[in-house]
Order: sequence, then C-alpha cells, then structure tokens
Amino acid sequence: MSENVKVLISEQEVTEKIQELADRINKDYEGKEIHLICVLKGSVFITCELAKRLTVPVTMDFMSVSSYGDTQESSGRVKIVKDLDESIAGKDVLIVEDIIDSGRTLSHLIQLLQSRQPNSVRLCTLLDKPDRRVTDVTVDYTGFVIPDEFVVGYGLDYAQKFRNLPYIGVVVE
Ligand code: IMP
Ligand code: MG
Repeated sequence: MSENVKVLISEQEVTEKIQELADRINKDYEGKEIHLICVLKGSVFITCELAKRLTVPVTMDFMSVSSYGDTQESSGRVKIVKDLDESIAGKDVLIVEDIIDSGRTLSHLIQLLQSRQPNSVRLCTLLDKPDRRVTDVTVDYTGFVIPDEFVVGYGLDYAQKFRNLPYIGVVVE
C-alpha cells in the first residue's frame, strides 16, 4: 500500500510538531482544564498524540460530521453523524482537526458548538490548506501549512484507505 504514497511530512516531523503544539497549548491553558473534541475519523491520530503530551487536566469527547454533497456545498452545512456525549457548557473546548481545507466543516461546527454555551472554543489542526479556503475560520494552533495537494496518512484517507500511515503523504499513480 505504502509504495504508492510519496512522503510529504515524515513521522518524525509530525511527532516533533505535535510536541510543539502541545507545549504551546500547555502554556496557554495553564490553570485550566481542556475539553478535547476529536472530529472523527481523521482526527483520531492527532488527537491521541496531542492528548498524550498535554500536562493540564484533559477530558475528551468525539463527534462525527459529514459534509453535504456538492449540490448543497454552498450552504456550508454539515450533518451531525454522531453528536458529543457530554455537555460542553462552561468548558474550555479545544477542537482537534486533521486538516482544514475549504473551512466549511469547521466554520459550521464552531458556530454549532458556540451555541452550546462553552466557556471558550479554540481550534487546533495538524494541517492547513489556506489556498482552498472559502470560509473564514480562525485557527488557533496550526501544525503545518501545506499547498493545495490531496494528502493521506496520519488519519487522512483516500476512499477510506491510508489512514493508518504514520506519516503524511501524497498518493502517486
Ligand atoms: P473542509 O470543510 O473543506 O475544510 O473539509 C475538511 C475535510 O475534508 C477534512 O476533515 C477531510 O476529511 C477532508 N479533506 C480535505 N482535504 C483533504 C486531503 O488532502 N486529504 C484527505 N482528506 C481531506
Ligand atoms: Mg476531518
């Protein structure tokens, strides 16, 4: 499987970057607790690796959303496939994403979560493709800014495959 994928960001680079993100987050949230929200499925890898490196108290919840098809893209709405188990009221929420592309999913998700009265909502993403952005999204913690290329690995899939690769790569023919 991996012979079809060219490494873009190595496992070691990803690991080092996640540690850097964790260091910043630990500093910013000193004296607070973080309620981590993992957006399934792609964010599972980054969420676990980040969570292991957080030294402030952490609770975790999981959510699964899917974008509507192309015909409804302009509405920018997402469908909740699996909602959070717990209330986020009064909590300091940190959403963890694998990648931000158009920004549609996240801008809708942030709006939705804001309406549930959390104390704060911040966003951490491993990858950002700003060239593709159509909606404004404030990203508080960004791992890597990458060009407009379709990437796989570290949770990211191509037709549900390649999520398990320990690095970020590009599928080559
Ligand atoms: P957005 O709403 O366009 O920002 O969509 C983000 C979602 O699209 C991500 O959570 C991924 O599931 C998917 N996605 C965007 N770019 C890529 C990519 O390069 N590889 C794999 N999935 C991607
Ligand atoms: Mg995702």
